[in-house]
Amino acid sequence: MGKINFDEQIIRRGTGSAKWDGLEGMFGIEDASDVIPMWVADADFKVAPEIGEAVKKAVELEIYGYKFGVPGTMEAIVDWQSRRYAFEAKTEWITTITGVVAAVTAAVQAYTNEGDGVIIQSPVYYPFANTIKANNRVVMEAPLKETENDGILHYEIDFDVFEEVCAKEEAKMLILCSPHNPLGRVWTEEELKKIGEITRKHGVFVVSDEIHSDIVMGDTKFVSFLAVNPESYDSAMMCSSASKSFNIAGLHYAYAIIPNEENLAKYKGVTGRNSASSGSYVGAEALSAAYTKAEYYVDEFNAYVGENINYMVNFVKENLPKVRIVKPEGTYLVWVDITQMIEEGTDVNRFMADEVKVACDPGYWFGESYKGYVRMNAATTKANIVEAMNRFKAALEK
Ligand SMILES: Cc1ncc(COP(=O)(O)O)c(C=O)c1O
Repeated sequence: MGKINFDEQIIRRGTGSAKWDGLEGMFGIEDASDVIPMWVADADFKVAPEIGEAVKKAVELEIYGYKFGVPGTMEAIVDWQSRRYAFEAKTEWITTITGVVAAVTAAVQAYTNEGDGVIIQSPVYYPFANTIKANNRVVMEAPLKETENDGILHYEIDFDVFEEVCAKEEAKMLILCSPHNPLGRVWTEEELKKIGEITRKHGVFVVSDEIHSDIVMGDTKFVSFLAVNPESYDSAMMCSSASKSFNIAGLHYAYAIIPNEENLAKYKGVTGRNSASSGSYVGAEALSAAYTKAEYYVDEFNAYVGENINYMVNFVKENLPKVRIVKPEGTYLVWVDITQMIEEGTDVNRFMADEVKVACDPGYWFGESYKGYVRMNAATTKANIVEAMNRFKAALEK
């Protein structure tokens, strides 16, 4: 047994939790007290005690005024990236911000102009498309190719399609979701090198969102885009945080690593103009504690969530023959196709919330073509997973 008891059922209802207290508003449910939330990507687990202690210490003084950064945080980020992912960054390449979506948005503003095309590999984390559109840029989709083997879905990059999109005159940027949310792909070195070659050839700037990099299943190894594409140092950046793997998203602290000096200055110009630099000092304390004192938590977290995912996949195989499911290589998100189990025209959102009583991200949030899919969040207790899957089966058998 590890240090953390992931089976502990922590009551989050009534705490202002988006995941638990947002159900009524988000899903139009009148009384959500019996609904299991498996939507937004946060985990129902306590943080590592080292993080809890760092946060408590950070607020102990009861003066919460302006602060300089927490000493040692940049070094902790460099060390984490080097030790775990062989990405040899320098502290002066790093800049911090309130969140990874904010970092992606700043990149869109810094490196593209209104009317430019920004590529996404759909179906993908929907805030990417939202921020592209909100900034008057154009979404260019390079959809991933779906294959199926005995009910297990798998997604690949169709490099012909990808290159065709990159080669278009208006294509200026790729937002790479690495690992991919919601499809659970952890891109291989070979795939990432190919992405690097194609984007360099066509002058497409790469923003690699690596927020899920720590969460990998089994023997899967995460590979960092910049680590295997040093030739892209002048035309790429990465952004990440400790918020998924250490469950500290509410502390609003993330970082971008931008090796090229001019690119870094441009990005900082944008965050400065938006008055959106830095991130919270409590978040910095939490990240620092996570990266320097609590690495073991990631392994325990991955092992526990990995078992949850195996349970879900096996359950589907054994009990739900018409359901197709991804066995993710990374992230704690599970993409499930229930098209064949629901009547045509049924809204998956209503079906999941009202009939199954498990709230998931409906596939259509990720794109019109994914109406029959849902994304389930496996970062909860095993007891919730078992109950959710039983509810799924009962509703589908009705
Ligand atoms: C790929 C991806 N990027 C960014 C985020 C959100 O990051 P932040 O809360 O730091 O803006 C998420 C959250 O689920 C995500 O999945």
